[in-house]
Amino acid sequence: MFFRLWALLCAAQTTLALNFTVSGGQVFTPGLVVVDAPQPGTPLGGDIIEVALDVSTNGRLPLPPYAEGSPSQIHNVTIFLYSYATGKNLTITNGTASANNASLGDIMFQEPGSTVKHVKWTWPDCLVGDGQPTEVDSARGVYNISIRQNFRLNGNDHYTIFDLPISVTNRIDASDERPSCDALNNPLLTPDQVDVMGANDLPDMFAPGDATTVQTSGAGAGALSRRSGASWVSLVGVAVAIIL
Ligand SMILES: *[C@@H]1O[C@H](CO)[C@@H](O)[C@H](O)[C@H]1NC(C)=O
Ligand SMILES: *[C@@H]1O[C@H](CO)[C@@H](O)[C@H](O)[C@H]1NC(C)=O
Ligand SMILES: *[C@@H]1O[C@H](CO)[C@@H](O)[C@H](O)[C@H]1NC(C)=O
Ligand SMILES: *[C@@H]1O[C@H](CO)[C@@H](O)[C@H](O)[C@H]1NC(C)=O
Ligand SMILES: *[C@@H]1O[C@H](CO)[C@@H](O)[C@H](O)[C@H]1NC(C)=O
Ligand SMILES: *[C@@H]1O[C@H](CO)[C@@H](O)[C@H](O)[C@H]1NC(C)=O
Repeated sequence: MFFRLWALLCAAQTTLALNFTVSGGQVFTPGLVVVDAPQPGTPLGGDIIEVALDVSTNGRLPLPPYAEGSPSQIHNVTIFLYSYATGKNLTITNGTASANNASLGDIMFQEPGSTVKHVKWTWPDCLVGDGQPTEVDSARGVYNISIRQNFRLNGNDHYTIFDLPISVTNRIDASDERPSCDALNNPLLTPDQVDVMGANDLPDMFAPGDATTVQTSGAGAGALSRRSGASWVSLVGVAVAIIL
């Protein structure tokens, strides 16, 4: 059943207590994407990181290409791996693949026909190592997988940011195949500049017991356009009541 998980992450000097909506091994987001893996707080390593995202909202939303004018659709999903502890902000996908898929193209078009997109990203060179970071300037340690969704829900466009904490503390072997972190790194903005709370105009949705509906039919789009935007805003507002 539905429950809330407190993920306690112990970084070098900080302890973060965060609030997630988790049910049946799925992590629910303020958007149409449902995270199948990884779970919050998981230590990761190996050759690659794999982020599994259900982009069908557990069967409520068809796969692209969407019906023209569909009132609900995912415009795009971008993902960054960032950390205020290490100062890195690495591109996992910004919609445009870079050389050798060091950063990935549009994930909505991978694995056509599959409702779950397995986003596989080769760990870049600065994350090589084994265990907790041992040097002050190490890039290993705690990170967020920052999942940014551009989508339309029941006629209204939204952009929401979902930060999923993990730690890069398992073994990652050195290899010539690893992309350079420098080529993937972006400026790291302050929390005020990012303003997650301000960006997110929706709560976590679609966990069991959450009654949010997804309007998808192309035919419904005409009917939608005759309604005022406000009536759909209130539909969303009413529908997100969560039953514990
Ligand atoms: C966790 O989320 C619940 C429901 O939204 C809220 O009532 C609670 O205050 C949150 N706790 C923290 C620490 O954010
Ligand atoms: C994502 O979709 C939004 C809305 O359609 C658009 O403005 C933005 O440029 C797109 N971004 C990417 C990376 O495709
Ligand atoms: C992860 O994201 C949360 C919420 O956006 C933020 O408070 C925290 O500082 C971030 N963690 C790291 C390691 O940057
Ligand atoms: C990059 O990934 C895409 C989608 O999985 C694949 O079609 C393409 O062949 C890959 N390109 C390289 C250079 O690996
Ligand atoms: C996407 O990310 C790569 C790697 O960080 C970067 O080189 C490229 O300029 C980015 N493209 C866009 C359109 O932001
Ligand atoms: C990371 O970089 C991307 C692309 O420049 C940006 O959109 C995002 O806000 C940055 N994240 C942080 C936490 O600075």
